[in-house]
Amino acid sequence: MPSFDIDQIRADFPILSREIDGKPLTYLDNGATAQKPSCVIESMRKFYAEDNANIHRGIHYLSREATEAYENSRTQIKAALGLPDSHELIFVRGATEGINLVTHGLSDRLSEGDEVVLTIMEHHANFVPWQVIADRKNIKLHFVGLTKDGELDLEAWKAAFNSRTRVASFTHVSNVLGSINPVAEMTTFARERGVLTLVDGAQALPHGPVDLSEVGSDFYVFSGHKVFGPDGIGVLTGPRDLLNAFPPFQSGGDMIDRVQVSGTTFREVPERFEAGTPNISATLGLAEAFRYMAEIDWEEARAHEHSLAEKTAEELKSLGGIRIFGESPGKASIISFLYDVAHPQDVGTILDTEGIAIRVGHHCAQPLMDYYEVPATARASFAFYNNEADVEAFMRGMHKVQRFFG
Ligand code: ALA
Repeated sequence: MPSFDIDQIRADFPILSREIDGKPLTYLDNGATAQKPSCVIESMRKFYAEDNANIHRGIHYLSREATEAYENSRTQIKAALGLPDSHELIFVRGATEGINLVTHGLSDRLSEGDEVVLTIMEHHANFVPWQVIADRKNIKLHFVGLTKDGELDLEAWKAAFNSRTRVASFTHVSNVLGSINPVAEMTTFARERGVLTLVDGAQALPHGPVDLSEVGSDFYVFSGHKVFGPDGIGVLTGPRDLLNAFPPFQSGGDMIDRVQVSGTTFREVPERFEAGTPNISATLGLAEAFRYMAEIDWEEARAHEHSLAEKTAEELKSLGGIRIFGESPGKASIISFLYDVAHPQDVGTILDTEGIAIRVGHHCAQPLMDYYEVPATARASFAFYNNEADVEAFMRGMHKVQRFFG
């Protein structure tokens, strides 16, 4: 039975009871990486302590068991994502690798003059790989701008499509603004025009389940470490037929069908794109994170996160001299801001002296910083395990910034 008891939830995350220089940790850098519940940590410890073996290669008991656990993780995560039967799930190192795999796979299919529609709110992970193939293949990239609230300008996005548009790649949730893109409407629009879609879900899944049959994209990527799982593991999903037609991304063991001196043939997905020994323990940890997340009442969790973020935004504004980036109603619980008395670096440094972790800088979104004509912002990003005490500590820290610089 899903539930939401904030004290019980916090007790599941050992790091949350840590102190930094004698002060309780206030962790508001969830956009950069999320903390891990004990069950995820334990699943990885157990694998190494009791079950460790390589997969897909051994006839012995442990190898058979590890192979089954690895493949069960795939099945379990596919089910949690509502992945359509026509699609396959590939374990990658993270969202970045997933996007690189797609741009590499598509590059032979794109010709000079073709166009890709991106948005100005993309993380570098969904920006730079497209620029690399655009430079190589002479492809045109369109970067679509925002409304004054920091939402995607949907009309401008639709208007960017033309007969040469081949791909539209966009984030589900902005890691800076918290804006949630209307992904189902966007994928429908693209599909009706024969345009492939890739959705970067790295900042969406940490705020609740995503049903890929509703999202409707061709490709969807995310990183394990942002969804309360381990780092070094992530997911790419995509249409099986198209993925099987992609050239190998990395080659070597486990992704081959037959290797001869005269040449090699390759397996189909998912193995086609899982060359070498994969991150088995992290895959099991990721499946455990999904199992844990399935026990959360996300309606309550989302309401809880939103109320913390809204309270923080209101209290921040009451300081005066605060500019918040991204004011889209219903946005994810991410607050990027500038305080006119202090550089974001100074804000972050003073908060750190109080045990408060936020991110300051360009957030791997330099084109978005350029769009707003700022070099950096400070960002407090919430997860469902944050609580009122975190908001209070954060505001005490901000008052310290005010006393210091104001
Ligand atoms: N993409 C991560 C962030 O937004 C690293 O901080």
